[in-house]
Amino acid sequence: MTRVIGILSGKGGVGKTTTVANLGTALASYYKKKVIIVDCNITTSHLSLYLGMYYSPVTLNQVLTGKSKIHEAIYDYHVPNLKVIPASLSLKDLRGVDVSRLSRVIKKLSEDADIVLLDGAPGMGREAMATMRASNEVLFISTPFVPSTMDIIKCHQVALEMNTKPLGIMLNMVGKERYELSVQEVEQLSELNVISTVPMDKNVLRSLALKTPVVSFDPESPASRAFLELAGKLIGEKYVPETFLSRIARFFGFGRTRA
Ligand SMILES: Nc1ncnc2c1ncn2[C@@H]1O[C@H](COP(=O)(O)OP(=O)(O)OP(=O)(O)O)[C@@H](O)[C@H]1O
Ligand SMILES: [Mg+2]
Repeated sequence: MTRVIGILSGKGGVGKTTTVANLGTALASYYKKKVIIVDCNITTSHLSLYLGMYYSPVTLNQVLTGKSKIHEAIYDYHVPNLKVIPASLSLKDLRGVDVSRLSRVIKKLSEDADIVLLDGAPGMGREAMATMRASNEVLFISTPFVPSTMDIIKCHQVALEMNTKPLGIMLNMVGKERYELSVQEVEQLSELNVISTVPMDKNVLRSLALKTPVVSFDPESPASRAFLELAGKLIGEKYVPETFLSRIARFFGFGRTRA
């Protein structure tokens, strides 16, 4: 059965789109899963910008206005097994969008992917709630600070009310500063498990400038390793970091293809 995982947060700018782009790439390229990533943040869509897709003739917007079918809005990305459903970057394409159609539309992808990742809007507005409703499971993204963690508490309650299974928290942009909340503090506050910590890593910003997910741009960077490990955890597979020997083996065509 296709898993539909919503990537959501209470607070904006905590790394949802970055996570969707990187988990999608990691699951498709490293773990060989068929993946579709969907930009459900209709009003402030960014996913296509992160992937260098500036124009798509049909987007999720047209699907949610009833003008197009979901399969017309699926695009190949240059990573094998990974497909993208972008939202429009144009203000005029917001007219007539009905987010209450999202669940129905996403269900139609069940034949097309092993995993569908939904990039949500922040907070608890209509778009975010429609994304939660369309998901079977939800991964919350937070930073190690009180405001973003507190907002997750409300989102968690809503997820339980909607019968959407919470997978836990991915704590992003983690540094080693004493003023940051620890994993234990985040878990105590939120009553959720922190299933991954992704460090603050300048390579994420470098990769953004090149419109390439960091797991492709620099698979050995600290953030990439964390994303690759989390992707494995989500599907019950263990991420084995490359060693010098495995890199040589890959060079000669043995072993796993990296992201
Ligand atoms: N681990 C990281 N290290 C460094 N920078 C990061 C990291 N994760 C995300 N960023 C940067 O933080 C910024 C916000 O990330 P992103 O757009 O993914 O957040 P978002 O939650 O999707 O935001 P919004 O709520 O607006 O949709 C981006 O510039 C991104 O490159
Ligand atoms: Mg975003």
